[in-house]
Amino acid sequence: MMRWIFAALLLIGVHKVSTASPWIYADDDEVPKDAIRITSLGSGTPDVHKEQVATGFLIEVGNGDKFIFDLGSGAFLNLFATGVPPSKLDKVFLTHLHSDHLADLATLQVNAIFGRKTPLQVWGPSGESPQYGLEASIDGLRKFLAWDTLSRRRINLIGRKDDGDQLIAHEFDYSVEKQLIYSQNGVNITSTPTRLTVGDSIPANTLVELARGCDVFIEGIIGPLPDLDVLSWQSRFLINTSHTTPAQAGRIFRDVGARLSVIHHADVNDASREALITETREEYPEGRLVINEDLAVYEVTKDAIRHRKRIVPVRSWGKFERAEWARRDDAPSGQAHKSLSSAA
Ligand SMILES: *[C@@H]1O[C@H](CO)[C@@H](O)[C@H](O)[C@H]1NC(C)=O
Ligand SMILES: *[C@@H]1O[C@H](CO)[C@@H](O)[C@H](O)[C@H]1NC(C)=O
Repeated sequence: MMRWIFAALLLIGVHKVSTASPWIYADDDEVPKDAIRITSLGSGTPDVHKEQVATGFLIEVGNGDKFIFDLGSGAFLNLFATGVPPSKLDKVFLTHLHSDHLADLATLQVNAIFGRKTPLQVWGPSGESPQYGLEASIDGLRKFLAWDTLSRRRINLIGRKDDGDQLIAHEFDYSVEKQLIYSQNGVNITSTPTRLTVGDSIPANTLVELARGCDVFIEGIIGPLPDLDVLSWQSRFLINTSHTTPAQAGRIFRDVGARLSVIHHADVNDASREALITETREEYPEGRLVINEDLAVYEVTKDAIRHRKRIVPVRSWGKFERAEWARRDDAPSGQAHKSLSSAA
């Protein structure tokens, strides 16, 4: 009951502020210093729909650092709706190079025009040969956006003089187990291989070892299994060899023993929700378990893990840091600024 009252109050608050100015944080309460806030930007599959876009997470750390883990088809929509300023979003970690985990990188990159002044840095795996690795993928993105980047640099109104439209790839060897790929400001990010892919994974022992006793464990699964009957033999084979079933996820959850286990990357509807829980619970009868949804929030402190949902306006303008933008030496002024604001 309390949660509903809280949600209703938030909605009223956001509505009031947003009618005064569209450029606000959708949810502007700061991440507490001692917390990590995980926002689900997309909980679904390549089969994107309004309630579930493809996979993505925003990780906000109490020290102010922000990271994106995967940004699949549609996930940028939810990222922007959170109101977190694009200027603070310059680090993306890709679990693997499937489009439902990276397609919205292009949208994030172009969004640099709204205030990011530093290059977009992307960490991701190598492939079995160079053309299948992150470097090649990011190089392709640079080419895909070549004219976009050039033309936006030419627009006098924006007059970019920084490197905010540049892309940097940090490719790591996907085959190395328990590899530290990022270590700064007390944040360590570690990668470990699974048999085919990572974000879409089959049960993998090193993953369990790495994660044992963690706070939040998010497992991409496929299923629930009855749905598979309608699929072709090839699809079922692919699923068998590259994804985790709810029952397998249950065993992993049991072995990992996280404070909160999250079922992720499943098509969720009224019928599948119950089946997902039932099948997972066969192997994981105890322990806190939730099914991920778009814009779900998991806020972790030593004492508690709060499970909330971001309330975002339907017409989201994000927070472009327009005030800051307007202060830039090269910012447009007077009439030009006004018309740009209303056009943007
Ligand atoms: C991060 O990794 C470094 C290098 O292994 C280690 O010294 C440090 O303690 C780790 N920090 C955290 C917060 O785990
Ligand atoms: C997928 O795995 C199930 C369970 O192990 C098995 O019964 C089925 O034959 C497999 N299907 C394919 C297409 O590999």
